[in-house]
Amino acid sequence: MFIAPSLLAANFARLAKETERVDRSGADRLHLDIMDGHFVPNISFGPAVVKTVRPLTRLFFDVHLMCTKPEILLEAFARAGADQMNIHVELGEHVTALIWKIKSLGKRVGLAINPPTAIAHVQPYLDQVDALLIMTVNPGFGGQSFIYETLPKIQQAYAWRQEKNLNYDIGVDGGVDFKTAPECAQAGADTFISGTALFGQKNLGAAVRKIRKLVEAAKPKALLPETA
Ligand code: DX5
Ligand code: ZN
Repeated sequence: MFIAPSLLAANFARLAKETERVDRSGADRLHLDIMDGHFVPNISFGPAVVKTVRPLTRLFFDVHLMCTKPEILLEAFARAGADQMNIHVELGEHVTALIWKIKSLGKRVGLAINPPTAIAHVQPYLDQVDALLIMTVNPGFGGQSFIYETLPKIQQAYAWRQEKNLNYDIGVDGGVDFKTAPECAQAGADTFISGTALFGQKNLGAAVRKIRKLVEAAKPKALLPETA
């Protein structure tokens, strides 16, 4: 189980302190949302910010590219310190080339999917990616409500992983909080990206411990160790 606070919900006036706060919290990853003002109706930050916070922590950097043309940014984010780069399946015919470009940069590949897009669209790529990022809100803004209609996509991703003996992470992103995270875990998610719910707590470490305990307890039965 991976807990990944999303820096989008941090106080941008003190990004360095916020990054150090995540570092001390016991979280597994830092999620970094990149918005280009075109793929989504918002702009966040770019490689310079990622590079600036990179020396402040050894946490795994999970870069989520909500961008129409991620190809122009991949090298810059790789140099800035990304460990994984997630591109969107909605980019259609460009997806295969983007996957190979990320691999050629020596980084892990994630494939993100928006709520209105059918899960069948990711199926051709399952054996080529390290992670699926199932969007549980329409991307662009933090603090939105979880869209429950996305739960069957998590179940399908989990079923395919078992059936095909693959090992991609199943991440959920958007509206993930103390109530919805365990519901996602029960459906088969193992990576929990959470912005508002975690950063809204005074004690981020306690919030990470709480969400971890809840998702561990809600794991699908098939994930529990077999008893003899
Ligand atoms: C949404 C972003 C999310 C966002 C989640 O466009 O991709 O990563 O930071 O924020 P919350 O947890 O506030 O919904
Ligand atoms: Zn994200």
